[in-house]
Amino acid sequence: MRIDILTILPALLQGPFSDSIMKRAQEKGLVEINLHNIRDYSTSKHKNVDDYQYGGGAGMVMSIEPIAVLIEKLKAERKYDEIIYMTPDGEILDQRMSNNLSLGENIMILCGHYKGVDERVRQQYITKEISIGSYVLSGGELAAAVLVDSIVRLLPGVLNDETSALTDSFQDDLLSPPVYTRPPEFNGMKVPDILLSGDFKKIDLWREEKALERTKLRRPDLLND
Ligand code: ADE
Repeated sequence: MRIDILTILPALLQGPFSDSIMKRAQEKGLVEINLHNIRDYSTSKHKNVDDYQYGGGAGMVMSIEPIAVLIEKLKAERKYDEIIYMTPDGEILDQRMSNNLSLGENIMILCGHYKGVDERVRQQYITKEISIGSYVLSGGELAAAVLVDSIVRLLPGVLNDETSALTDSFQDDLLSPPVYTRPPEFNGMKVPDILLSGDFKKIDLWREEKALERTKLRRPDLLND
């Protein structure tokens, strides 16, 4: 999979992709993540990427020109499954959306800033608008990092144990059951006997039961869906 991220702050995105699972996925050639600095495509003398909004009002708006030039350049090079704009007024990200996006070959992600991008960018180029939750971030970069992480870990071969993505919370609309590791007892707190029993059939049943119990308690909405 190839992911192109359009941003005015590429440095903000370098950290999340240069460690751990995201780093290994790129090293293994399972994903190629390209950061593009929108400012490099500004034709103005001072490399501006924003301007005052028409009609007045506080806050700058990201200009269409450098974004359009960059998107057109990338689109001429390959076909994109989705051109995504990260915005608090987009569709709320969930596991189903990440699963669907992980099946694509090329995706482009535009990170917004200030008051957002000129509406004509959205009309002309954007095929999907995604929010990572009902709160406002300073820009789309951290949201894009969350989206990319949730997609890349689903790509075949990225996680060592392939079943581990399949048993994540949300994959079957259930939260994960509780997990334990050594020691078997800490300050009087014991690991449930069943997990030490070696009876894997019973352990599976116990885990299913606990996952359902936790989901009913914390996220009953998942069961209603
Ligand atoms: N940009 C600013 N806030 C955002 C959010 N909650 N989700 C996606 N992009 C954003």
